Amino acid sequence: MFSYAGRRALITGGGRGIGRAIALAYAKAGADVAVAARSPGQLDDTVREIKELGREAWALPVDLTARGAPQDLVTRALDVMGRIDVLVNSAGDTGRLERSTFDLTDDDVDHVYQLHVKSALFTSIKAAESMVRLGIPGAILNITSTGGLFPTPGAVLYGSAKSAINHLTSTLGMEFGTHGIRVNAIAPGLIDTPLVADRLVSEEDQIDLASFYPINRVGHVDDVSAAALYLCSAEAGWVSGVTLLINGGQHASNAMFRWPRRHNEVPAGRRI
Ligand SMILES: NC(=O)c1ccc[n+]([C@@H]2O[C@H](COP(=O)([O-])OP(=O)(O)OC[C@H]3O[C@@H](n4cnc5c(N)ncnc54)[C@H](OP(=O)(O)O)[C@@H]3O)[C@@H](O)[C@H]2O)c1
Repeated sequence: MFSYAGRRALITGGGRGIGRAIALAYAKAGADVAVAARSPGQLDDTVREIKELGREAWALPVDLTARGAPQDLVTRALDVMGRIDVLVNSAGDTGRLERSTFDLTDDDVDHVYQLHVKSALFTSIKAAESMVRLGIPGAILNITSTGGLFPTPGAVLYGSAKSAINHLTSTLGMEFGTHGIRVNAIAPGLIDTPLVADRLVSEEDQIDLASFYPINRVGHVDDVSAAALYLCSAEAGWVSGVTLLINGGQHASNAMFRWPRRHNEVPAGRRI
């Protein structure tokens, strides 16, 4: 439905989960794709699958928590691809959800803000610079979280980091818009990926968590990749600065406030 023919995309977190699903969706739509993460084996698997679709693909191993790594990654992507039409920031982790708020350290804050916020900020700036230089009306997409819009007890670090990315999405959308570059975000609810596999082990977990969504199931990576396909397509040419909730209607209920504590992995009794 949406054509990505002739476009080249850089996708962080493209080795598995949501990033991988978006990489494959873009490749199916005609894009060449570079994927970046730490695990070379997973990147190679995604690259192989993209090549099987007849598209060009590159694996760019990187640890985005290293200082300067996001900027270097964009330089490397431009070296191999020549241009970046689409940038997707999907790399992320659970943002130290396993720790009680009282136990958070300076290192935890540095890790979560570097991986989620600084990484998305600097890849966006560097990619947009190249788009301006090459006259490309590019698109940038950040994968944030419904947890960045609604407070979840026990998730202050993850939620505030995702909230910051929502804000930089709208601000950069305004700034880069004058160059024809669009910046949007998707804020998913719980999506069945390796990131949350330990919360979806039993059938009871599945039923329990599904009940928090008016559309009575947890999300699938294709729920997110379908939205990613639209938001970075030419058809979304007048859509920018938006954070799109893909969460089965969770935001419209008061489910955020009923979220069972055991699903945030914080040991009982260590909460504020
Ligand atoms: N799944 C959900 O329920 C959900 C809900 C809302 C938002 N999100 C957000 O969606 C994004 C993708 O999550 P996911 O569910 O697809 O998780 P996932 O399956 O664990 O994939 C995360 C990706 O990020 C990469 N990554 C992690 N740390 C990295 C680092 N230091 N440097 C470079 N790459 C790194 C991982 O590869 P390596 O480990 O090999 O580096 C992997 O490719 C994240 O930003 C997450 O916060 C997920």
